[in-house]
Amino acid sequence: MTIKTLHKLTAGLAIAMVFSSCVKDENSYGYEYMPDMYRSPAPEAYVDYGEVRTWKTDTSLTNKQSAKLPPLGTIPFSGNNVDANYSLPYKRLPSKAMIGTHGLTSLEYNDGDYEASVADANPMPLYESNVAKGKVLYDRFCDHCHGEKGAGDGKVANHDAINPPADAFTKPDGQMFYSITYGKGVMGAHKSQLNQKERWQVINYIKSMNGATVMPDPINKTSGGAGNGKKSSIEDDFSADALVSSLTALAQETAEDANHTSEHSLNLDHLVFATGSANLDMAMSQSTLDGLVSFMKATDKNIEFDGYTDNTGDADANLTLSQLRADAVKAYLVGNGIDASRIEAKGYGSANPKADNATEEGRAQNRRTEVKIK
Ligand code: HEC
Repeated sequence: MTIKTLHKLTAGLAIAMVFSSCVKDENSYGYEYMPDMYRSPAPEAYVDYGEVRTWKTDTSLTNKQSAKLPPLGTIPFSGNNVDANYSLPYKRLPSKAMIGTHGLTSLEYNDGDYEASVADANPMPLYESNVAKGKVLYDRFCDHCHGEKGAGDGKVANHDAINPPADAFTKPDGQMFYSITYGKGVMGAHKSQLNQKERWQVINYIKSMNGATVMPDPINKTSGGAGNGKKSSIEDDFSADALVSSLTALAQETAEDANHTSEHSLNLDHLVFATGSANLDMAMSQSTLDGLVSFMKATDKNIEFDGYTDNTGDADANLTLSQLRADAVKAYLVGNGIDASRIEAKGYGSANPKADNATEEGRAQNRRTEVKIK
């Protein structure tokens, strides 16, 4: 075979491919020789798998459900470890009835969990910020069926047999959470639209709609000082320099008490975190952080941060939060040139309360970050 014949053959083959990819049906995009290169084989919510895998030949694979639930146990990324706690998989399973109403298959079921959900408590305090977020979500996801006041008279109610009962919002929190998660009757599951935290926030909004008293957000500063003589001197004249003097005095006190007859610590009163998170409010906390950095640069002593919370909410979450807050202060110092080995960060959750957790004032005192010189 000459090179010329080979060229002719190749050209002929190319032309044949070009024409064979054209079909008469003008709505068809023709033959695809490598479908996987045009269509992502990755799991995607709105993709027809009959088409991806076998190019319309296998109808058993055709996807009838549009948006799919995320795989069981998926933890949404929220960029914040504390939020992730709220987003851990919900422990209750849907009831079997949902196969009929929601077309769900290959999930585990537990028919008793709807009743058991009554016992689930709302971990999100009824704070203004939670209620405000809940309202945004309610307006977006629930208002059109349940109506502005929850009377079941939303825009689409009374159409297509969607009639949310007027007493839907009288259920216990836990049961509302269950139904929002998995849906009920014609109400679809909201598990894939709202994470756990958001579902509880919607419930907070529903409760405020029902007349529950909403609390103002606590100023979540690590306040305190009860029983700590240092507090007033810091507050009278607070600056990074004032903190350095207090820390120097604390170091002196600690060194003099060689037998450790008493605890020597200082509350960082002006260190402020965003509510429920370990994000430092830099505008409020800058002087404290500057003071800590200056002190550490001027001394060769080591330091310890102890994070504490009040006793509201989940104990494990509080422990995590207090640790993350102590870690956040440490991270700031390390980021500013202090050797990590000189700083210890410990989270104690709601342990060692300084004041009575029964009052808001007491709880505010118990949320604190203490510093010790070693
Ligand atoms: C498509 C309309 C629709 C949407 C959207 C909708 N619901 Fe519903 N909801 C219903 C209907 C209908 C029922 C009654 C279901 C039944 O009892 O069969 C219901 C019931 C409920 C119940 C009572 C559940 C129970 O256990 O008896 C709660 C609580 C609830 N909805 C909350 C919400 C929240 C919160 C949202 C927004 C995140 C929401 N719903 C979105 C239609 C809707």
